[in-house]
Amino acid sequence: MSIPDLPVVIPDAPRNLDLSKCIFPPEYDGHFVRLLISKDEIRGVVRALAAQIHKEYQAKKSRPVMVCVLKGASPFFQHLCDALMELKQGFDTEFIRVSSYEGTESTGRVRVAGGIDYDHLAGRDLLLVEDIIDTGTTLSYLIPTLMEKDKPPRSVDVVTLLSKRLNEAAKWEANYVGFTVPPHFVVGYGLDYNELYRDTEDIFVISQSGINFDSSTLN
Ligand code: XMP
Ligand code: MG
Repeated sequence: MSIPDLPVVIPDAPRNLDLSKCIFPPEYDGHFVRLLISKDEIRGVVRALAAQIHKEYQAKKSRPVMVCVLKGASPFFQHLCDALMELKQGFDTEFIRVSSYEGTESTGRVRVAGGIDYDHLAGRDLLLVEDIIDTGTTLSYLIPTLMEKDKPPRSVDVVTLLSKRLNEAAKWEANYVGFTVPPHFVVGYGLDYNELYRDTEDIFVISQSGINFDSSTLN
């Protein structure tokens, strides 16, 4: 598998990737307009990110704390940690649960809803692992929250699988970006719409039927 240069730019115009080859539960039939990023592309980018991270942490002789921003980043976190292990890059892990979205709209309000062990982070180099940066609201809240503790981390860097291309001058950007994507609402590989679609290996653009679907019929 070839290692791509980062970030990989996913163009605005559809690339006509073959949606019929994707594996997903049958209840999602008709819920996607198109395949945006394939599983194979994700795996290649995860390896490239791991190589970049390993090189920089080796140079600064640092063992990072990989902080998974739940729930969306969970599959990316898992595969990124696997790739770092293959490179013999040591790291600690921590998990934080944050939400800023209701349906397809960012609420602009960020909540930390999960038990992170702040003592574990004191004096350490943190690498926040995010699924997607959209408006930057989550990071502009989360990073100061972590740095304002009595015993703050030494540094906070961010790796994100996706970054949406928006015309926002003051947008927070990650230190490591896998893909830049057009400003559509995307789902799959951890990214959900009302808790659905986290359980797919590829990333899709959601369709109107997907948005209108009543998920309570599945339980
Ligand atoms: P902000 O605006 O705070 O957004 O940078 C980051 C968080 O919002 C969620 N998000 C999405 N989730 N499809 C999703 O499933 C999307 O297109 C999308 N855009 C933003 C996500 O949880 C992210 O961490
Ligand atoms: Mg997220």
